[in-house]
Amino acid sequence: ASSEPGGSGGASASGSSSSDALVFDADAYSTLTTTITDADGTDHEVEYRFYKAVTYVAKPVDEKYQSLNVSVPVKIDGTAVDATNAPILFANSVGGYMPSSVADATGVGGGSTTGMPGGGAPSASASASASDSGSGSGSGSGSGSGDVASGGNGMVNAQGGMVSLPKLALAAGYVVVEPGARGRTLVDSDGTYYGVAPAAIVDLKAAVRYVRFNKGRIPGNVARIVSSGTSAGGALSSLLGASGDSPLYDTPLRAIGAAEASDAIFATGAWCPITDLEHADGAYEWNWGSNPMSSGSQVDQTVSKGLRSQFAEYQASLRLKGLGGFGTLTARNYDEYLVKQYMEPSATRYLTALSDADRTTYLTANPFITWSGGKASFSWADFLTHIGARKKSTPAFDAFDLSAGENNLFGKGTTQARHFTLYSLRHASGGSARLDSDLPETLRLMNPMTFLTDKPNPQRTKHWWIRLGTKDSDTSHTVSANLAAAANGLGDEVDHLYYWDEGHGANTDPGEFIKWIAKVSG
Ligand code: DHB
Repeated sequence: ASSEPGGSGGASASGSSSSDALVFDADAYSTLTTTITDADGTDHEVEYRFYKAVTYVAKPVDEKYQSLNVSVPVKIDGTAVDATNAPILFANSVGGYMPSSVADATGVGGGSTTGMPGGGAPSASASASASDSGSGSGSGSGSGSGDVASGGNGMVNAQGGMVSLPKLALAAGYVVVEPGARGRTLVDSDGTYYGVAPAAIVDLKAAVRYVRFNKGRIPGNVARIVSSGTSAGGALSSLLGASGDSPLYDTPLRAIGAAEASDAIFATGAWCPITDLEHADGAYEWNWGSNPMSSGSQVDQTVSKGLRSQFAEYQASLRLKGLGGFGTLTARNYDEYLVKQYMEPSATRYLTALSDADRTTYLTANPFITWSGGKASFSWADFLTHIGARKKSTPAFDAFDLSAGENNLFGKGTTQARHFTLYSLRHASGGSARLDSDLPETLRLMNPMTFLTDKPNPQRTKHWWIRLGTKDSDTSHTVSANLAAAANGLGDEVDHLYYWDEGHGANTDPGEFIKWIAKVSG
């Protein structure tokens, strides 16, 4: 029952009982009505079919997470909508690599990341730019607090309101699939961690396979599946796009009874992707090494410098060319690249949109910016001073004391947290320690870069929408820039920009993303 992306097949072919279990029941919906405010501020009355908590694998480990919701628009502003061939937004709500579930959602945009460290998730509905009225409250939020904050429905717009891409997509007439996925903290009664890497990406792939396997039963064009996610969810969205149909996941996919179908997707949207984790410590020090912590204290400069030199080596090994005709990216020219390709254009867009009076006020408060001929320019050093404190200590991801979320992500069996870089492992356990033998492969399965460099994956997504706030210090600015450069170097369409003065989880142009989906799908 295998089907090519965009090809036929899947829907009718179900030769085994596990396949039968994966047949989508097109009649099992409730009809909901909601008012959705679009990105331009216009309200739309949307009637839609809501399919809730559909298990997407035949042998689930935990159905609470391995299930998805489907929302299909029926009527928008009183006019009937035919979504048979509409693009499908595949919106994960993963944050912090934590478990995410859609099982308790009462409408579109209701997925949430559960058990975020630091507790309370801000309400997505309080100031929602895409808010529900009537039936579905859709009040879930992928946001946490503290060092992890985001999730597919936890993005923040320029006004500080919450953005719900699932709602905006539904109001645009798209089919919306919201998958849950296992996450790093899940532990069974034997003490086994069953949501650690690569569980989340395996689940998301299984969910894509389910959608394609049910082509014709689930409305929408399975050749136009567009993934979205923020932070850890952005990382997984990138990975889903990069790794389409890779055989490397076959064994874990078979183990959970995933549908026999393609898991390639058409396009990837990724906001502040926290990815390339095994190289992120060095990249972080390259970016933030000279910035103090918010407390004013400095991190260990010996460690910071050691990690920075690793970044130089790694960056050189990638041999990536920058966008816009920039040459090979190295640790020596990456500052210039970021400033010219991303940061100055970002400031220029921001300042251009201001009134003359507001622009003058901003430039007076920020004299490091030269404003000339309608363009902003500044140095990397001044930019770093402007964006301020670093968020994370050093190493930022593979913490010496195993306290980072990523240490838990790379746990295994009954081991809650492990080192996943030789540097931190040897710092903690001695100079000759070796990484556990499974780790190189697990890291590969979690890193989109492995599918975009060396032997690029021909089944990858060819359309990339990547966004990041200029003040986001959850990872290095080089991480998404490298992702963009790698995809661009393969000839893919890349739309990557940075939101000026925005922090982690920002999404200040959600309406543009919705339009982009229509454009690339067309
Ligand atoms: C997220 C944030 C982080 O700083 C991180 O290391 C991993 C994930 C998040 O918000 O999803």
